Amino acid sequence: MATLLAKPSASITFTFNGELISAVPGQSVGAAILETGARTLRVTRFENKPRGMFCGIGVCFDCLVVIDGVPNQRACLIEVRDGMKVNTQVGGAWSK
Ligand code: FES
Repeated sequence: MATLLAKPSASITFTFNGELISAVPGQSVGAAILETGARTLRVTRFENKPRGMFCGIGVCFDCLVVIDGVPNQRACLIEVRDGMKVNTQVGGAWSK
């Protein structure tokens, strides 16, 4: 017999490119952003091509974002924290 699990309620908020996002404690930054419908987490350095979650396990580095001013953070591995400021990473290891 299947058991219904209660969906945890969102109780953390953070911003992605200035927009407020609600998340569940323990959720990854990438998962919380995907839940909003956003798909682009970074853009490539030469052609500004969009990249987003690909492997979801920390291997491909396509999910790099800037978190609280620190670039090159893998959104799929970082757990959301209340009040964090996440921004799209443009190109390499610099932040906006
Ligand atoms: S999605 Fe591949 S490293 Fe994050």
